[in-house]
Amino acid sequence: MNNLSHKTSAPDTDATKVRLYGPAAFEGMRLAGQLAAQALDMLVDFVKPGVPTGRLEQLILEFARDHKAFPATLNYRGFRHALCTSVNHVVCHGHPGPKPLREGDIVNIDVTLILNGWHGDTSRMYPVGAISRKAERLLEVTYESLVRGVAAVRPGRTTGHIGEAIQRYAESERCSVVRDFCGHGLGDVFHDRPNILHYGRGGEGVELQPGMIFTIEPMINLGRADTKVLDDGWTAVTRDKSLSAQFEHTVGVTETGVEVFTYSPKGYHCPPYGLPR
Ligand code: MF3
Ligand code: CO
Ligand code: CO
Repeated sequence: MNNLSHKTSAPDTDATKVRLYGPAAFEGMRLAGQLAAQALDMLVDFVKPGVPTGRLEQLILEFARDHKAFPATLNYRGFRHALCTSVNHVVCHGHPGPKPLREGDIVNIDVTLILNGWHGDTSRMYPVGAISRKAERLLEVTYESLVRGVAAVRPGRTTGHIGEAIQRYAESERCSVVRDFCGHGLGDVFHDRPNILHYGRGGEGVELQPGMIFTIEPMINLGRADTKVLDDGWTAVTRDKSLSAQFEHTVGVTETGVEVFTYSPKGYHCPPYGLPR
């Protein structure tokens, strides 16, 4: 059972069913992850009021072509776009299109590039012009949630430790963790075991072992955690229309800890990009 579009299903508990990748795969994932992160860096200058999200898709298509890569979401299980653009109360899987971004919006841009067969999957939040203080706080809390999830990864811990680290922090900041979507194994496929839930308790899920590769991609809401999917069958939104944010890295479990494959080459990890913080 693959986790085909990172919708949460029963948590995996059998570590023997999770693939372990070797050094050649790690090298492939390093290159794919770096390329996906470079694509997100490239978009920073284009995310501005008045720019249609469809323009960002064109840029990703050109970037992928120029780097001999392919956007994994394009025609993936009926999804017709080269990236996901999720604005304001959209939690994930927003479709790029003609609608222009507006001053004050926050948008998650999620890009997965396949390079030499390896999948680099990463997303970040982008502020559109000046944003409200509460939106800014949500971005900070969500980014820190990802950092804490990554820091929980090491052999002998469980996927539940990752979820616990994220949930404890996000809830301590009076935000909620989306439960309907989760991180996922990946490598030479896009979505695989194990599910990486962004909530839970240490000891739950599967024990982490060197060679496992997966994403951590917490979706955090200012309001309640509940989501619904719109009639297009993809766009997930918060039921209470509260703002939602997400950051995503692709990581590998090493002998001693974790390797992050999708760090920003330009240091654009969390906004405001290009400025010291
Ligand atoms: N990139 C998303 C993820 O983080 C998956 C998008 S699936 C799509 O797993 F079909 F919506 F593109
Ligand atoms: Co993902
Ligand atoms: Co993604």
